[in-house]
Amino acid sequence: MTKIAATFARELATALASADAPTNKAGDDVTGSLGHFRQALESVNNQDDHQSHRSKLPAEASDWLRDALSRLTGKGTFSKAVVAAAETENWYQIYNEDTPSKGEESNPMEDLAPGMFAARLIGPSRGLIQSNQLLAGLFLLRPGLHYPLHQHEAAEIYFCASGTAYIQHDIDGEAKRLSPGQVSLTPSNRLHALTMGEEPVLLLWTWLGEFGGRNWWWHQQNDGSWRRDAWERSEDASWIKTASEPVPRAEITALQSNDKPL
Ligand SMILES: [Fe+2]
Repeated sequence: MTKIAATFARELATALASADAPTNKAGDDVTGSLGHFRQALESVNNQDDHQSHRSKLPAEASDWLRDALSRLTGKGTFSKAVVAAAETENWYQIYNEDTPSKGEESNPMEDLAPGMFAARLIGPSRGLIQSNQLLAGLFLLRPGLHYPLHQHEAAEIYFCASGTAYIQHDIDGEAKRLSPGQVSLTPSNRLHALTMGEEPVLLLWTWLGEFGGRNWWWHQQNDGSWRRDAWERSEDASWIKTASEPVPRAEITALQSNDKPL
């Protein structure tokens, strides 16, 4: 019996203890929040893997993964755990190209879908270890991909294993560089966007809190105003757009005044 997911959790918990968080806002309680994530990862203990099916990456994404894994840095046990997790062949495409959407607007998932893959190791479903408290796995992204502003209730961390991502927090935040060995914390419901550098990016990704519900995607209109669309996972695991609304101006103003020096 293998313990790939438990080893991954232990190595990530250890790596978080000394990781810088250069993309976070000055007022974020990074240390306290990372403590919660470490605790959740450590609570996995040394459980055995249970893998019910295997699913490979498409050829192009396999090349990105090989490239990303060839550039892993950090201590040997960490790199080994990441490679073992990548080789579980538990990959799936996060969004679908044919995601149905209500309304006339373009579907941002059409561009994104073939550029984003996840391998889930721990979670309520699809993982190697079952958990209702913690989602954890690998996140593989195409070079140059832009993952637009979105928000979700779960708190999230991205630990960079390979490549460079530029992460923006809030509607007008500066996109800051996340390099291998560094972590980015996304507090619950914080707007965030990611842009990849010129190489494929491999992130270790973890969610705590509410996994279901609406993921809101924001997009700016030609007149400068903002709209947001809510996407939810349906029972068959596909994504459905369930709401679309203008963002009230007062909400934008409140976001813009955040984190500005007095
Ligand atoms: Fe996110």
